[in-house]
Amino acid sequence: MEISRREMIAMGLLGSAALVMPMERKVKAQIGSEPIRDRDLPPPFQVPFTTPPVLKPVRTDATTDYYQMTMRNRRVEILPGIKTEIWGYNGITPGPTIMERRGRRTVARCINQIRSPEHEHTSVHLHGNASLPQYDGYASDITLPGQYKDYVWPNEQSARTLWYHDHGVHVTARNAYMGCAAFYITDDDNAPRLPIPQGRYDIPLMLRDALFGRDGSLLFDEDDAEDDLFGNVILVNGKPWPVMKVERRKYRFRVLNASASRGFNLALSSGEPLTVISQDSGLAPRPVEVDSMRVGPAERYGLVIDFAKYRVGQRVVLRNLELKNNEEFENTDVIMAFEIAGPATDRTNNRIPEELDPENEVMQLRASQSVRSREFRFQRHNGHWTINQQTWDDVIRSGFRDTLANPGLGDVEIWRLYNNSGGWNHPVHIHLVDFKILDRNGRPPLPHERGPKDTAYVGEGESVRVIARFGPREGKYMIHCHNLAHEDHDMMHQFQVGQGGPDPINSAPAKPLPAPPL
Ligand code: C2O
Ligand code: CU
Ligand code: CU
Repeated sequence: MEISRREMIAMGLLGSAALVMPMERKVKAQIGSEPIRDRDLPPPFQVPFTTPPVLKPVRTDATTDYYQMTMRNRRVEILPGIKTEIWGYNGITPGPTIMERRGRRTVARCINQIRSPEHEHTSVHLHGNASLPQYDGYASDITLPGQYKDYVWPNEQSARTLWYHDHGVHVTARNAYMGCAAFYITDDDNAPRLPIPQGRYDIPLMLRDALFGRDGSLLFDEDDAEDDLFGNVILVNGKPWPVMKVERRKYRFRVLNASASRGFNLALSSGEPLTVISQDSGLAPRPVEVDSMRVGPAERYGLVIDFAKYRVGQRVVLRNLELKNNEEFENTDVIMAFEIAGPATDRTNNRIPEELDPENEVMQLRASQSVRSREFRFQRHNGHWTINQQTWDDVIRSGFRDTLANPGLGDVEIWRLYNNSGGWNHPVHIHLVDFKILDRNGRPPLPHERGPKDTAYVGEGESVRVIARFGPREGKYMIHCHNLAHEDHDMMHQFQVGQGGPDPINSAPAKPLPAPPL
């Protein structure tokens, strides 16, 4: 199998020049087409809203659901009348949604068939799941085009909105930007007992921005991609500024910000509040109402909107208020519209109780339980994005031995995440664990983030303290900024829980196709 220079760097086979870009990419950035003119973009709220299809297992047995998906290029219509090449799971973006129940196991065969001059490697991360290290999308555990990897994902945690997305070392931004991202939603016995909206009133919303060229291509400028990637089109489940018909009743929306760099600041045009019922890692202890809320890359929030407050025929817009350090374009201040189409056809599960998950484990943690505090500084250093002045390139050079922290298995620790600079935000994600935000800049966390989390928005000059129990598995896990431009260049490092744990790269490596039947 032919291996590109970049892949050799990724695997640690070449020295430390990890950030030197291959020639062909530079050239591509230069000749890349001009951005599409605003007047050639569809006006907001014309395109019908859709949700991604649910993936059916190829096979199930007593304990396990077996899935198969192929990452591939496809030309699809995103902007009306224009074809856009995407890379997606099964050739769609968002990819197909996986729905699982707590207690079952998932085996997902992920096949890399992406064709690109750069010979794109992939790694698949199930974000929000406590996976074993070799199935956690470890950045340097790569799958080359023409290879596949069977990921084993336990669904042992409480119900939550997860997502799977690419995590290939130094190419995550491009792979995810081209479309490799999808929902993964789990259920447990608690959620269905609650009277909150379910079934066709429980709707995933993957928000992201994108920049299109005049030829319809997704523009990805390698030079820009070192700092920030902002687009002039807002996509919801892959559709530009869609309009959704709703009934006069409550809906639950599972909002995920899958943008490379953009944060959203959500609000309703009617001035009515949003009811927040869940965070990254599941239901909140209790619901909270907010007038607006910021959602950084990779954060997930469950929102309830009550359309019974409006008349049939009325339109309510989900707006995007300004947020510091975002680049704004003509229509990036709006996201989608809801059109009240008629009365409720089903009035069951139309209530938000005062308590949702009051016993949630991580939300019970108290600062006094912590056995250790650590500090992680997210900063620019020597022309790189770094954590405590270290990068993933340092991890590669150490033969994947270097770590920033080594909590004992089961230890409770407080981690302070600190962005001492102005000019940019760092949405910080810690793999493996659920955490609780103890405080933000010495004050209580924002109302909407008072629930179980795995990603914390650390705005400029902000300091966020989080508490977590490190487990339930031993091994090496990543911590990184989820602004994908920062992550790739190279604001990512790792921590080791306990002493051993399976090797993330060598214990279940990708294999060449053709694959035996699942
Ligand atoms: Cu959503 Cu380490 O990623
Ligand atoms: Cu993750
Ligand atoms: Cu960052």
